[in-house]
Amino acid sequence: MTDKEITKTEILNKVYTADDHEQLRDAYKAWATDYDSDLAELGYVAHITSAEALDQALGGNHEAVILDAGSGTGLVGEELVKRGYRTLDALDYSWEMLDEAASKNIYRSLLQANMTMRLPLEDNAYDAVICTGTFTYGHITADGFDELVRVTRPGGVITFTVREGAYEEYGYRARMLDLEIKEAWELVSFYDTPYQIEEGNVCKMCTYRVLG
Ligand SMILES: C[S@@+](CC[C@H](N)C(=O)[O-])C[C@H]1O[C@@H](n2cnc3c(N)ncnc32)[C@H](O)[C@@H]1O
Repeated sequence: MTDKEITKTEILNKVYTADDHEQLRDAYKAWATDYDSDLAELGYVAHITSAEALDQALGGNHEAVILDAGSGTGLVGEELVKRGYRTLDALDYSWEMLDEAASKNIYRSLLQANMTMRLPLEDNAYDAVICTGTFTYGHITADGFDELVRVTRPGGVITFTVREGAYEEYGYRARMLDLEIKEAWELVSFYDTPYQIEEGNVCKMCTYRVLG
C-alpha cells in the first residue's frame, strides 16, 4: 500500500467507527480536501442516483427550493445543478466540508448545523430535502428524520439514502414506518441501489412525500 492509500484507509476507518460527533467531525476535517477524488476512486455513485431519485419525485420542477442536508463537499448539489435545479442550500456540521462545497459556487447559502439537534431553520422552509450518505453507521440516528420532515412543506419531498447494513440495525426502518403510521409522510419510492461500486456496497434509496 502507498502512503496515500494507508491514509485513506485510516480516514475511512475513522469515519465509520467514530464513537461520537467530535471524532466524526475530526475525521471529515482531515478528509475534506481529498473527499471527492477518494470517492471517485471508490466508485461512489449515491450522489448521482439520489439526484436522479429526487429529480423524478419533483417531476423536473426546477423552481424547487432544495436543502442538501449533510451536503459534504457538494457532490449531490453538483448533480442537481446538472439536472437544472438552481436554488440549493447546503447544511453540514463540518466547516471543512462546507468550505469545499462553497468553492463550487452552486449553493444559495451554506449552514453549519448538527442534524441530531433542532435545525436553525423555519418550519416548511423547503420544497424538497435531499440527504445522501448521512443516515449510516456512526453518523445520524433515526431521530434525524423528524427535523427533515419539519423543514419540508406539506406536499414537499424528501429523498435520502440509508446504508444497507444500518437500515434495520440502527432503527431507521422502524422510525420510517412509524412516521408513515403517524401520517407525517407517505412513501413515494423505495429501492436498493449501488452505493460504492468498488466495494460492492448497496443502499436503500428512499423518497417520501410530507403530509400536512
Ligand atoms: C458520507 S458524507 C456525504 C456527503 C454528501 N452528501 C455526499 O453524498 O457526498 C456525510 C456527511 O454528513 C456530515 N454529517 C455527519 N454527521 C452530521 C451531523 N450530525 N450533522 C450534520 N452533518 C453531519 C459529514 O460532515 C459529511 O459531510
